[in-house]
Amino acid sequence: MPSPIETVAALIRDAKRIVVFTGAGISAESGIPTFRDPMTGIWAHHDPEKLETADAFRKDAALVWGWYMWRRAHVAGAVPNAAHLAIAQLARVREVTVVTQNIDDLHARAGSTDVIHLHGSLAQPKCFACHRTPAALPFENPVTSEGLRIEPPRCPRCNGKLRPGVVWFGENLPAAAWKRAVLAAKECDVLLSIGTSGVVFPAAEIPIVAHHAGACVVHINPAQVAQPSSREFCLIGRAAEHVPALVSLLGPADLPS
Ligand code: APR
Repeated sequence: MPSPIETVAALIRDAKRIVVFTGAGISAESGIPTFRDPMTGIWAHHDPEKLETADAFRKDAALVWGWYMWRRAHVAGAVPNAAHLAIAQLARVREVTVVTQNIDDLHARAGSTDVIHLHGSLAQPKCFACHRTPAALPFENPVTSEGLRIEPPRCPRCNGKLRPGVVWFGENLPAAAWKRAVLAAKECDVLLSIGTSGVVFPAAEIPIVAHHAGACVVHINPAQVAQPSSREFCLIGRAAEHVPALVSLLGPADLPS
């Protein structure tokens, strides 16, 4: 009787198209806290879901911008972990589309080239007033280790306040990214759902779309986030443990040189 990981490795071996759907948990082992982790520093008493809103920015732009600048500095100091690297390696021997809820750039820095950011990116701020993205990135603000309130820079076009180029609660996902992600989910043979609690919609719809379209869905998470069923599997454990193990189980003909 093959082990769960051997079963999943066989699914990947037989797959042509793979979607890798990731959440904050895949970056946890790079030292970036997930949304279910307690907040620290000056934001310890803030609820991320309250800070990730246009209202919070209207009320206290410096607090929200300071939080994102601290997060950006934190990401800049982090490195892709073995899970990010294994996904990039897998893409050298299978057609892999990464659909991430994360706003960090660790997939790209690990070498993944086809990455769809459903919730935007820390790397690209935009104007709160005219929605344009400035050509030059205004990240000269000093960020302490615990972060601080920082007045957001101004838009060079309309002098409005710059805001993080991410999707806040109550905002729509970028239409082109959503369309591409749904198409990839509908066309894939296997969807690996890695490090996500699967509670924030519409992003959490992606594994459901893939399953309804006939794909096998594999959840990789230390928590049991789904009930195994037909064509749905759970590998309980850390991403940086299971993902490299899966890639190493592919036959020698599959392993990238
Ligand atoms: N490996 C794999 N999974 C892990 C690891 C790990 N090392 N550590 C934690 N996890 C799992 C947790 O068990 C949890 O299920 O990662 C998941 C993280 O869940 P959330 O913090 O809810 O993050 P995510 O699912 O990405 O949240 C979705 O919510 O706050 C919004 O916009 C934000 O994109 C985010 C969205």
